[in-house]
Amino acid sequence: MADCEKPSSCLIVIFGASGDLTRRKLIPSLYQLFVAGQLPEHFAVLGVSRSPMSDDDFRDRLHSFFGQYDDKQWHDFAKCLYYHVADSTKAEAYGGLKTRMAELSQSHGTGVNVLLYLSIAPHLYEPTLTQIGAAGMVAEGKHWCSLDRNNPPWQRVIIEKPFGSDPLSASRLNDVVASVFDEQSIYRIDHYLGKETVQNLLVFRFANTIFEPIWNRKYIDHVQVTAAESVGIEGRGSYYDSPSGGAMRDMIQSHLLQVMAVVAMEPPITMCADDIRVEKTKILAACRTPSMDDVPKIAVRGQYGPGQFGGKVVTGYREEEGTRSDSQTDTYTALQVFIDTWRWGGVPFYLRSGKSMTKKLTEVVVTFKPTPHCLFLPRMTGSHSALPNQLVINVQPDEGIRLRFEGKVPGMGMDIKPVIMDFDYNEQFGASPPQAYATLLLDAIRGDQTLYKHREEIKHCWRVVQPVLDYWQDHPQDDLPNYAAGTWGPSASDIMMARDGRKWHNP
Ligand code: BG6
Repeated sequence: MADCEKPSSCLIVIFGASGDLTRRKLIPSLYQLFVAGQLPEHFAVLGVSRSPMSDDDFRDRLHSFFGQYDDKQWHDFAKCLYYHVADSTKAEAYGGLKTRMAELSQSHGTGVNVLLYLSIAPHLYEPTLTQIGAAGMVAEGKHWCSLDRNNPPWQRVIIEKPFGSDPLSASRLNDVVASVFDEQSIYRIDHYLGKETVQNLLVFRFANTIFEPIWNRKYIDHVQVTAAESVGIEGRGSYYDSPSGGAMRDMIQSHLLQVMAVVAMEPPITMCADDIRVEKTKILAACRTPSMDDVPKIAVRGQYGPGQFGGKVVTGYREEEGTRSDSQTDTYTALQVFIDTWRWGGVPFYLRSGKSMTKKLTEVVVTFKPTPHCLFLPRMTGSHSALPNQLVINVQPDEGIRLRFEGKVPGMGMDIKPVIMDFDYNEQFGASPPQAYATLLLDAIRGDQTLYKHREEIKHCWRVVQPVLDYWQDHPQDDLPNYAAGTWGPSASDIMMARDGRKWHNP
């Protein structure tokens, strides 16, 4: 979100550096920033984990995994990568870690600025944060802007999701992190906010005049937000089948509610982080808390069984490693949400996310109300009656925005047909969007919290989903698995939509 000025020097410390996220996302994103000349002039990355490894082992491991690095660029970049063996939950680890950080700060000229990235297992967040605080590693991060107001030294922390597994654990984690860092130094990541098309939603809505007047209950019938994945749980069975797993916690509570908030928020006063986050928080605060009686009507739990994808047989969820044979975990969730405000009163937002579905697709579909008086009936047109306008914002993989409206088919009669006005990101700009993690890492280095979540947002997201999770906990479902891998999910989800006289957009 920020401008192009070079950010100030810093040391980046990644806790959990031997894990998958580091080699799959964090290092490739930092490399992308390095190649683009967007990292600070003086920087170094220190990976911290328990697995014994030398600096060179660490570099080789990262290089061999991604394999798409340019030799010369990688060589220069890798000179700034280091590794330190330590258990971040143990007090005794911090003497050595601080010494190593001081050495790197000296040799790379990174000064006192430090970005700490917690990419560790969620149950290690609290003990690690506590030790970071006890070790006295955070001075400026607790007294933000205390010195030079124009260029204050800083220490910041990025915390990966899941942020808690229910309202209570999220609130406790918020308290622990707040005891060590100031809110301005806490970066709760949601990588969906870093996706180019999600950011483009802000531009689409607030840099144009024509959409805003119709962006409300008077013109919009309903909104769908879909995040479908064609892959299953990809070897993460033990996490996914744990009490912290499942699609509601993994996707709806975080990514989908965030995307919904960006779609629904009021125009912010400025594009500053605080102003944007205030508006998003208001939307999440206005989301109705479902009652237990509501749950069967507004939520659908699904789990994939064996099926087919791309002509190949796919195993069912319960046969995946690390899952239970009688698991009740949701690999698919659909949820209807109401935002009780003047703008959105009565407009349903349908959120759904699932693993092992027909295709990988993330999109927002805004369906407008039909015309108040329909002039073009099938009898008159010889074809169909007019379809309502629909705006499809494709977040991934084919980033773009498509508007459907009715057009007259050339000829003597009055045939009408839906046509699509198509904005394709790639075609227009000829460049593929940056990785979401690259955008978010750069923002954190620059001190821009716009695309990070405030603690209040987390609180409200849990408030909305927890009643459904509680209901599901108390009401095991004997029809699971209820959809075949490689399909659009359980029929119960289509039935929920049909009850409201609507249909999922399944392109
Ligand atoms: C993660 C979830 O946050 O997002 C994963 O934990 C999911 O389960 C992933 O697969 C999806 O991200 P993306 O960017 O591939 O849509």
